[in-house]
Amino acid sequence: MKNLKRIMSNLLLAFLVLSLLLIGNVSFPASAASVPTASNGAREYSLTFNPDNYVVKTFTLNNKTISCRAYENIVYVKKPVDIKYEVMNIYVPEEYYQGKSVGAYSAGTAPIFLPNEVGGYMPGEPGGPGMDRMNKDKPNAALVALSKGYVVAAPGARGRTTQNDVGIYTGKAPACIVDLKAAVRYLRYNAKRLPGDTEKIISNGTSAGGALSALLGATGNNKDYEPYLQAIGAAAARDDVYAASCYCPITNLDNADIAYEWYFNGINNFSRMAMTMTPGGMQRSMENGTMTANQIECSNELKKMFPKYLNSLDLKTSAGNSLTLANNGTGSFTEYIKSFVLASAQQALERGADLSGLSWLTIKDGIVKNIDFDQYVRYVKRMKPTTAFDGLDLNNGENDLFGTKTIPAQHFTQFGKDHSTVKGSLAKAAVIKLMNPMNYIATQGTATARYWRIRHGAIDSDTTLAVPVILATKLKNSGYVVDFAVPWQQGHGGDYDLDELFAWIASVATVK
Ligand code: DHB
Repeated sequence: MKNLKRIMSNLLLAFLVLSLLLIGNVSFPASAASVPTASNGAREYSLTFNPDNYVVKTFTLNNKTISCRAYENIVYVKKPVDIKYEVMNIYVPEEYYQGKSVGAYSAGTAPIFLPNEVGGYMPGEPGGPGMDRMNKDKPNAALVALSKGYVVAAPGARGRTTQNDVGIYTGKAPACIVDLKAAVRYLRYNAKRLPGDTEKIISNGTSAGGALSALLGATGNNKDYEPYLQAIGAAAARDDVYAASCYCPITNLDNADIAYEWYFNGINNFSRMAMTMTPGGMQRSMENGTMTANQIECSNELKKMFPKYLNSLDLKTSAGNSLTLANNGTGSFTEYIKSFVLASAQQALERGADLSGLSWLTIKDGIVKNIDFDQYVRYVKRMKPTTAFDGLDLNNGENDLFGTKTIPAQHFTQFGKDHSTVKGSLAKAAVIKLMNPMNYIATQGTATARYWRIRHGAIDSDTTLAVPVILATKLKNSGYVVDFAVPWQQGHGGDYDLDELFAWIASVATVK
């Protein structure tokens, strides 16, 4: 009888604990939010956001103190592979806990700014408000967002070099985008526990991070990602976002080589930043080189492949005119590309820039009339020798991205595989597909973000201008609202125009 009583009371206790967990009213700080799973003993993390687990942080911007509640290092999936990266930092303006508003926003309406920290398809730890990494005198995007009343949700993500204790790669494609989607799901799953409007999530990223922002924007809720999300125990919630800001996205990787050579073919010198690890830290130096005969031959071959791809997209100008290229690589698409550079030069001129030294520009009476495209491309300069992305020796970062648990690097184009100098294998078509937003824009079963802001600097040659132009045009042609521009004298970088970025965010966030 005594035993029966004890069993009954134990059962009751277990039932109470279980039901509290299930209805989601109990949550723990990240470090304590785990219960062992029955099967393999791995820890499971609670997906329930704990509103009490914060520290107050203050920042100064323009002599104004900004106070917020900082929820840091929240594991955003139930079964993380790597809790260094599958964690998110959330910052909420303190005003929202006092029933106040910041500008036009309140606790219920504040959009959520979601910057990712990924660069080079490397792993990215979650960011947060502070000073800009490149320019310590300027606030970063997260701090500006916070000052304007946005809730900042900064997720980390695994990347191409992430490995576990026994040397298995854990962050190869599509891990980075799967993680960011899981972070979005976490926010939605906790919509009622978190200040901010989860229907107004605005993603931001630069370069590889810009590509991931584009993927977040393009692929919302598509079920191709579902098995990967399930595997890490992502919350059962939608992962579409409202708007995507993409600075110099290194995207459309499986077509980036043919686009690059269509653009830079004939320029055989290259100039790039080489980074080498030394005992004293990372050393950067300019590496100048001339392409080999074999590289030039590959460039010629790849260039020829681009018109077929471009024409297959059936892109149109906003007036409805077809954008095409003849087999020799010339056509209305070239004129279209020129139009963005021309608009950029015109704007620079109107802002007082002296463009008189640029022989590739024809300027008359304060109007930029024409650009000599070949000369402009020479001015931009080739940064990467052929092949720019799918390295024939598997030595590019993108080869790494497409590795597997046990294969460090693979090819991701048929050309790369066919010309491999190291007998490299080809990544699975299904994985390559998952990394390219072009495959998902406006497709059935996908919620593509309605608002887009895409920037590619006029002297950025990490990828060709054709890549973001194609992305922006595909989006526009599919009915999305796209703000695309090519900032003058801007190289590879992001977050350099925060006033304009936040003016855009404010304008799209307040659309009813
Ligand atoms: C980045 C830059 C590159 O040139 C590239 O190929 C991939 C990523 C970056 O800065 O993230």
